[in-house]
Order: sequence, then C-alpha cells, then structure tokens
Amino acid sequence: MTLNGSPTPLRRLEGKVAIITGGASGIGASAVRIFHQNGAKVIIADIQDEVGQKIADGLGEDVSYIHCDVSKEEDVRNLVDAAVDRHGKLDIMYSNAGVIDRTLGSILDVTKSDLDKVLGVNVMGAFWGAKHAAKVMIPQKNGCILFTSSATTNISGISTHPYTASKCAILGLVRNLAAELGQHGIRVNCVAPFAVATGIAGPCDPMQEEMVETMVTSWANLKGRVLKADDIAKAALYLASDDANYVSGLNLMVDGGFSVINPSMLKTLKLMD
Ligand SMILES: NC(=O)c1ccc[n+]([C@@H]2O[C@H](COP(=O)([O-])OP(=O)(O)OC[C@H]3O[C@@H](n4cnc5c(N)ncnc54)[C@H](O)[C@@H]3O)[C@@H](O)[C@H]2O)c1
Repeated sequence: MTLNGSPTPLRRLEGKVAIITGGASGIGASAVRIFHQNGAKVIIADIQDEVGQKIADGLGEDVSYIHCDVSKEEDVRNLVDAAVDRHGKLDIMYSNAGVIDRTLGSILDVTKSDLDKVLGVNVMGAFWGAKHAAKVMIPQKNGCILFTSSATTNISGISTHPYTASKCAILGLVRNLAAELGQHGIRVNCVAPFAVATGIAGPCDPMQEEMVETMVTSWANLKGRVLKADDIAKAALYLASDDANYVSGLNLMVDGGFSVINPSMLKTLKLMD
C-alpha cells in the first residue's frame, strides 16, 4: 500500500535494464516513461539529442541518453557496450526507431532514396539491434528482444510500399530470431500498432494531433476510445515483462481489431437499406 492507502503500483520491470531506440518521441518516449515507472533502468537511444537528453534528465538517474543512429552498426555496437558498461547487463532491447517515406503512392514512384532511408532505419536498424543485443543475451541465457512493427504486417494498402515491406521484414526477422534464440532463453516479439498521432509524419502540434486522432477514429473498428502512444507502450511493457514469460515469436496487434475486419460488404449492404 502507498501512504494514501491506494494499492502499490506493480513494478513489472524491477531491476531490469532496457534500451529503447527512438525513445525521444512518440511511442518510444511513452515506453521510456512507462518502463521507468515499472522499475527499469532505461537507456534512450535516438538521433534527437537535445530532446532525448531532456527526457532522460527529467526522469532521473535511472534513465540516460545515448546518441545512436540505428542504421549504423558501429553506433548500435557502442550503444549496447555502453549499456552493459553502465549497468552490467542488458535484459530488454526494444528496437522501436522507425521512419516512413512519403504519402501513399504507386510502385512507379518509388525511388532508391526512399528505399535507402526506410529500409536503412527500419530493417537494418532492427538487424543491428538484434545482433548486438543477442551478443550480450546469449551468454546471459536470458533476454527479451522487442520491435515495433505495424498493422501493415496484417493488412494491405494502408501505407507506402517501402514502409510496408520494411515492417513485414521485421516480422520475418522476429520469427526467425525466435527460432534461433529460444535455445538461449531469449524471447523475441513485436508490437504492431494501428495509426497513432506521433512525430513520424512530421512535427505534430496539439491541433494537428487532434485532427489526426479524429481522422483515425473515423476509420477505427473499436469506437469510443482513441489509440494513444501509451497503449502501444503498455503492450510493449507486457511483452518485456515476466508476465510474457513464455511468449515468443508474437506480432501483438494493437489495432482494436482493424486489421482482421473488412467492412466493405457491410457498408454496401447499409447503402442498399
Ligand atoms: N505512429 C504510428 O501511427 C505508427 C503505426 C505503426 C507503427 N509505428 C512505428 O512505431 C515506431 C515509433 O514511431 P512513432 O510513431 O513513435 O514516431 P516518432 O517519429 O514520434 O518516433 C520515432 C523516433 O525514432 C527516431 N529515429 C528516426 N530515425 C532514427 C535513427 N536512424 N536512429 C535512431 N533513432 C531514429 C526519431 O528521432 C524519433 O524519436 C516506428 O517504428 C514506427 O514505424 C508507428
């Protein structure tokens, strides 16, 4: 019990050390706060140095910031080494950093620079994160590797080709890693969000955020609530915690059922009423 008599909040990550890439904004920043509230020592890894450092300073000594461009193997190697130097181990590697190219377009419009950017961060970043985390976790015989995929792994036509391909690649990697790393006691999973108002589509002010949320809510299957970055971070918390002790190879959809429902027949029937 706390002093005011309310139940003590569960600290699901007590004593664990977690790296969160893309932790300076959106889903990653929510995960930093929620993992820290749950007792983890958190290392924020991002390329937005000022914002990332400010978040770390605001949360206290158990949270630190390290500059890391996840598309560069050297940066990710240094990040993992620094985490282990500082805390003696690594329990959770949450590879969440991601970028998107442009708005929906035809395959005819895809450019090499789109592919370099999106595959470089989303796919190569996922590979480097997994590789360097596994290097530490295999001898530990324990660990949790997590990614942020997307609803595009379950339903087509809702994002760009490079982005969709990058997220499906992450899912393939997750399943293959789960197969390889299970023998070492390492669980590998991903969280797959529906659309959330974050910085990914460009800097977001509160008015824009409200607009995005209204638009997304109008598409959503689950009504009466708005998907927030915290909802995704809480799903990541579950996967990172011992509550998910026997969960590996999972793509946890956080989409209110959006991707398993095709409303087109019902819409046509309603129009015919
Ligand atoms: N917001 C959505 O609707 C949505 C939906 C599905 C999946 N996702 C995924 O969620 C993850 C988090 O995105 P978000 O929505 O919070 O967006 P965001 O832009 O708010 O956060 C992404 C973070 O990644 C960082 N980043 C970008 N490139 C990087 C690099 N090379 N190295 C290190 N950090 C880098 C950014 O600086 C930023 O802090 C991404 O993988 C994204 O694809 C988002």
